[in-house]
Amino acid sequence: MGIEMRINGWIRVAIFGVICFCPWLCFAYAEGHVNQNANKLSCNIYEGNWVQDNSYPLYDSSKCPHIEKEFDCLKYGRPDREYLKYRWQPHNCNLPRFDGKSFLTKFKGKKIMFIGDSVSLNQWQSLICMLHSSVPQLRILEKGVAPITNYTFQDYDVSVIVFHSTHLVDIVNRTNGRILKLDSIYNGEIWKEMDVLVFNTWLWWYRTGPKQPWDYIQIGNKIIKDMDRMEAFKIGLTTWAKWVDTNVDTKKTKVFFQGISPQHYHGTEWNKPEATNCAKETIPITGSTYSIGLPTSSHVLQDVLNTLTKPVQLLNITTLSQLRKDAHPSSYNAFRGMDCTHWCVAGLIDTWNVLLYTKLM
Ligand SMILES: *[C@@H]1O[C@H](CO)[C@@H](O)[C@H](O)[C@H]1NC(C)=O
Ligand SMILES: *[C@@H]1O[C@H](CO)[C@@H](O)[C@H](O)[C@H]1NC(C)=O
Ligand SMILES: *[C@@H]1O[C@H](CO)[C@@H](O)[C@H](O)[C@H]1NC(C)=O
Repeated sequence: MGIEMRINGWIRVAIFGVICFCPWLCFAYAEGHVNQNANKLSCNIYEGNWVQDNSYPLYDSSKCPHIEKEFDCLKYGRPDREYLKYRWQPHNCNLPRFDGKSFLTKFKGKKIMFIGDSVSLNQWQSLICMLHSSVPQLRILEKGVAPITNYTFQDYDVSVIVFHSTHLVDIVNRTNGRILKLDSIYNGEIWKEMDVLVFNTWLWWYRTGPKQPWDYIQIGNKIIKDMDRMEAFKIGLTTWAKWVDTNVDTKKTKVFFQGISPQHYHGTEWNKPEATNCAKETIPITGSTYSIGLPTSSHVLQDVLNTLTKPVQLLNITTLSQLRKDAHPSSYNAFRGMDCTHWCVAGLIDTWNVLLYTKLM
């Protein structure tokens, strides 16, 4: 027995040795024995669950320059820390650890733009903190006038920009009121110049009353007072999709669409029917599925993405974020208002950027 085992061992060493004369084969051999690389097609990085990891969060938010007062939960007194200590674990592979220096090196001289509502601002903010923590000594040049905020990491000359747009399609002022033009995008000229684009829109489509930022809707020559909002969302997104197909050189520019960001105002969704917000939530939902499944808007988004001929990737963050009822600011923001829509920085939203990083590197 003992001899047999030893012979067996020698054979293995011999085979390993032979294989490793050829570096490619050696790599192939090694790969079979470690976890699959996340970029492999066989792994869906959006299917998985949250695991506790004490090496998280990825950075100390108190050292991040100018976190918006809406997202800086610790500064505004959030007492619990557990929500910071979760890592997204896909079922069939491991995500790479975020390495800001590699990212800045790879994107030297390039421009990355987030375009959308305050959820885009939220993700942009997180990426700024993640990059800053890898190169804390580096100067960040802050520029841009509304609707653009432009942070450039000097030395690397990498610009990370956020472009505020509630609906992606245009809202124009006319003497008789503000018009949401569902079939027009005039801001696109600047977007086209970027190397990476991450779009998002959803939050504003159902707003009514004083929070509704338009008075009329225009489609072609037709001007109407209102319409089914999901239908309007679909028409607006379709205009965006046609804009991408017609205007973006996807050989130069990589295009992503951020999936619908979920809110947590209905405790029935997590088995706590009395809850009307996320105020008391400190831990994620275990497992990989959310009770109500994907929201209707996700299906509409998917339908529109399917019509594109150019390659656009869905950053499919919906389900993994649905599981994180604990990750919103709740009332820990400057204005003390209950917010179960945005996400604390640091926190869950860093994972969106880890996933973006995985797709880009
Ligand atoms: C997004 O991910 C969720 C969870 O893995 C999955 O149920 C859904 O089908 C995915 N959507 C798309 C369009 O891949
Ligand atoms: C952002 O700032 C950098 C550095 O000043 C500049 O090169 C770049 O053109 C700016 N981009 C936009 C879109 O404002
Ligand atoms: C439209 O008018 C509002 C206030 O009247 C202003 O805040 C907004 O910037 C204007 N938008 C455009 C596109 O001119």
